[in-house]
Amino acid sequence: MLIIRTKAELRAMTQDWRRAGESIGVVPTMGALHAGHLSLVDRACAENDRVIVTLFVNPKQFNNPEDLAKYPRTEDSDAEKLTPYGADILYVPDGAQMYPEGFATTVSVTGVSEGLCGGARPGHFDGVATVVTKLFLQTDADRAYFGEKDYQQLQVVTRLAEDLDLKTEIVGCPTIREEDGLAMSSRNLRLAKGPREIAPVIAQVLDDAARVISRGGQVAQALDNARAALLSAGFDTIDYLELRSDPDLKLMTRADRPGRLFLAAWLDGVRLIDNVPVAGLASVPTPEDHPLEPA
Ligand code: PAF
Repeated sequence: MLIIRTKAELRAMTQDWRRAGESIGVVPTMGALHAGHLSLVDRACAENDRVIVTLFVNPKQFNNPEDLAKYPRTEDSDAEKLTPYGADILYVPDGAQMYPEGFATTVSVTGVSEGLCGGARPGHFDGVATVVTKLFLQTDADRAYFGEKDYQQLQVVTRLAEDLDLKTEIVGCPTIREEDGLAMSSRNLRLAKGPREIAPVIAQVLDDAARVISRGGQVAQALDNARAALLSAGFDTIDYLELRSDPDLKLMTRADRPGRLFLAAWLDGVRLIDNVPVAGLASVPTPEDHPLEPA
């Protein structure tokens, strides 16, 4: 695997591949690679002739400078983890390559970027949309791989690729979990031992709420119970816990179509997110079924 740091060298490689008629897959990352990222790389290698993994800690998607400063930077161990997978290039541009002096363009997606992490982290999805658009163009990728753990990000990227007529196909891949159910994330490394033992409660609480809702339980009640369970397990605050439609991410108060439960909660100073699917009910309880529920 070659490590490439400039757009010019990257372009020379991709042009050679194109001349040979080869397809290109890209896995955009900010490093601190874990099994979730590696599952994306594995799939990209299976589906493309050539694979580029990008590593860039994108300052434009951090609304909190402390979060940016704390983000792990582990290029050497990331490169080592990638070795067995057969990716061709690890592309590690610096800030000047990505945002040279005078850079003044923002890609902004409305609708699916609003609320959830878009509400809790203003500007975050503009930063993501801008950097992934640049990475798709720089890598000339046919396919780009994203995890469903960041489900809102996946929808934002899918929307922008469609709206901007990019040739890159967006491939969503299942969330990879630890044995205890905790969704894999670079942030998990920041949890001390005690909080790390509490963290899997997220997956349990989401699964329980999804089961209750998909069997006809009231959404508001299921979400209240889930919030109470998280706070009593030791979570500090909950940024959001919501049922949203899939894939347009509209707020839902009744499970009348397929949706997902989305959660962001703070534990030990670390913000954790997760989401699970909720099947839409064939027949949704009406206000007559729940006479005390406000219409
Ligand atoms: O999911 C991430 O790690 C980042 O948001 C991404 C897609 C690499 C863009 O910086």
